[in-house]
Amino acid sequence: MERENFIIAIDGFSSCGKSTVAKAIAKRLNFVFVDSGAMYRAVTLYFLRNRIDITDTEAIKTALANIHIDFIPNTDKTQILLNGEDISDEIRQMEVSEKVSEVSAIKEVRHAMVAQQQQLGARRDIVMDGRDIGTTVFPDADLKIFMTADPLVRANRRHAELVAKGEQVTLDEIIENLAHRDHIDSTREESPLRQAEDAIVLDNSNLTQDDQLDFVLEYFNERKK
Ligand code: DC
Repeated sequence: MERENFIIAIDGFSSCGKSTVAKAIAKRLNFVFVDSGAMYRAVTLYFLRNRIDITDTEAIKTALANIHIDFIPNTDKTQILLNGEDISDEIRQMEVSEKVSEVSAIKEVRHAMVAQQQQLGARRDIVMDGRDIGTTVFPDADLKIFMTADPLVRANRRHAELVAKGEQVTLDEIIENLAHRDHIDSTREESPLRQAEDAIVLDNSNLTQDDQLDFVLEYFNERKK
């Protein structure tokens, strides 16, 4: 039976503004927005807090069985709960950013998260952003966008975001973190970051948020059921 809900997959490199676009589309179309990166960040935070050895498969499996992730949908900010605790701000800290690519490359972690993501999109109209949404999570998504932007533009954006939150971090540290994450995300064995063959590329280096929203909406209107 053909699926009736509409799925928009937005993938791309770190700090390309995927979540910003995804959130705006969800708001405009009244879709549920899911930030899949926040889920990997939540797992990473749990691993850091509980000192999980990421080379110990049994410890990883036990930890995953004890992790429950919930979203509070369609608020302006992504609100995510880890075992009932709101960890929305904590998962954006550099300590988590520095470890998240290693944690999200672990096979057991990916299998657990992909299964949860597929459930979230089973019946609802959804916009999900991440790295492997159009390739692994929803290979049959109705619209796939692959976002990219100039690395320096990305680093400057992320730097401004963190500084605004009061984090002490240099632009060089951000450039290094982004390059490191892109490398791990693109070269890992399990569902690496890559552009789906049927994805539409959106380079937003020189685009406003409204331009990006219009770009995606145009394709949405073309494909809507
Ligand atoms: O989108 P983000 O920067 O918050 O994602 C954090 C990390 O999670 C990113 O470095 C790679 C990983 N990730 C992933 O492997 N697969 C996804 N679908 C989403 C994120």
